[in-house]
Amino acid sequence: MIVTASFLQSQNFIDALYIVAFSCFIYGMRGLTGPRTAVRGNQIAAVGMAIAVVATLLHKGVWHGSATPWLIALGLVLGTAIGIPAARRVRMTAMPQMVALFNGVGGGAVALIAWVEFRHRFGADWPLKAEIPSLFAAIIGSISFWGSNIAFGKLQGILPGRPIKLPAQIAINGLLLVVAVASAIVLAAGTHSQGLFIGGILIAAALLGNMIVLPIGGADMPVVISLLNAFTGLSAAATGIALNNTAMIVAGMIVGASGTILTNLMARAMNRSVPAIVAGGFGGEVAAPAAGELDRGPVRSTSPQDVAIQLSYARQVVIAPGYGMAVAQAQHAVRELERALESKGVEVKFAIHPVAGRMPGHMNVLLAEADVPYDLLREMDEINPEFPRTDVTLVIGANDVTNPAANTDPGSPIYGMPILQVDRSGAVVVLKRSMASGFAGIDNPLFYDAKTSLLFGDAKSSVSEITSEVQSL
Ligand code: TAP
Repeated sequence: MIVTASFLQSQNFIDALYIVAFSCFIYGMRGLTGPRTAVRGNQIAAVGMAIAVVATLLHKGVWHGSATPWLIALGLVLGTAIGIPAARRVRMTAMPQMVALFNGVGGGAVALIAWVEFRHRFGADWPLKAEIPSLFAAIIGSISFWGSNIAFGKLQGILPGRPIKLPAQIAINGLLLVVAVASAIVLAAGTHSQGLFIGGILIAAALLGNMIVLPIGGADMPVVISLLNAFTGLSAAATGIALNNTAMIVAGMIVGASGTILTNLMARAMNRSVPAIVAGGFGGEVAAPAAGELDRGPVRSTSPQDVAIQLSYARQVVIAPGYGMAVAQAQHAVRELERALESKGVEVKFAIHPVAGRMPGHMNVLLAEADVPYDLLREMDEINPEFPRTDVTLVIGANDVTNPAANTDPGSPIYGMPILQVDRSGAVVVLKRSMASGFAGIDNPLFYDAKTSLLFGDAKSSVSEITSEVQSL
């Protein structure tokens, strides 16, 4: 069969390519449900996206205008030149801000498409069923773009991580939303002052994106990023409806739905409510306590030799990793320790808190990278009943997710957050560098417990030293 240009550009062929692309998205997402299949899942979804881009470029309408091929080529070259090195170089600990940035770019692109569509088609052959989704996409895409940039700035340390609030914040946000929606309604109803109202939409939505994210504290930022991700997905789906582009509708709905589910799961794991986070009345980062306040009493410090003896003579050891393991990149050293203990007949399990680290699945990803067998990993609800029969729990760079104040102190900002109940095990060894607090900025009574000892130092070197001692016993 001879493949002609008109066949390649036929709607049937393009639709067939889109169906292959969606199948890759959905199959790829299935892969993302487990750390072992995640990399492959991501690659399959990326292939799907490449197919969707090719299918879109096959549309005859794309090539109107002499400058278009150059603009498309420029976009592809710039996107590839910036995206690939940035994604390769980013550290695991900086992944949330990377996601924020990419998400913001998506929201911004959607808002720009809405604006271009508006300039080209308003007042001509633009039916309401295309105009309304476009205006929706302009509002939500702008909120997502500006909000994601603020989230990036906070996580990157460019902006202060603490909540920045205005008086009457909620009333101001409500007013901005009213201005954006009212401008969209006036435009849809038909007006001669189109520039004024499209400007009204974009400016009010931009301010709203800033105003929504500025009052939110750093600790809640990953939840907000996930929420903004859902916004970007919804606005992309709306643009897809406006442009009659099935690929954008399907991809947008997948992002919108998964972002919404993830937002709810994270908020639940941190005992936060999504409306309260967005209203800025909750989850603000707590000011770090002064050095004196942390000084609750003596803590017991220990040595790698003593920890090695404790661990080697235990029957069951649970390792509870947290953000500090990610910072120290200690996952490979931890895997070595696990092997060394198992060779001495010690049963080792890993306790995984859903929000340990700084992004969903952070610990799973790191441990999978170090080839820790997946069947040694226990979710929080599974491991908590096991702590009373655990001889030693080794807490590696985890702090807030082990803080018993979440269960016992109604005044604590993390009160009600489900935690790993490591304080119920026979003995606890905490690996950290200092008495500094964790992300929530609060003291941890676990460190002052009589059964807890602290091994100060970088987690990677501490774990390696313990492993050498275990091997020499
Ligand atoms: P954190 O409470 O942030 O504690 C991390 C600990 O690691 C700190 O005590 C720090 O103490 C220690 N540390 C840092 N670098 C280290 C290194 N190189 N070697 C050894 N220790 C090191 O972490 P967590 O227990 O994993 O809790 C996660 C926090 O992030 C929670 O508050 C959670 O709500 C928040 N959060 C997470 C997510 C997701 S989705 N994961 C989303 C939003 C918020 P030193 O400085 O003394 O070493």
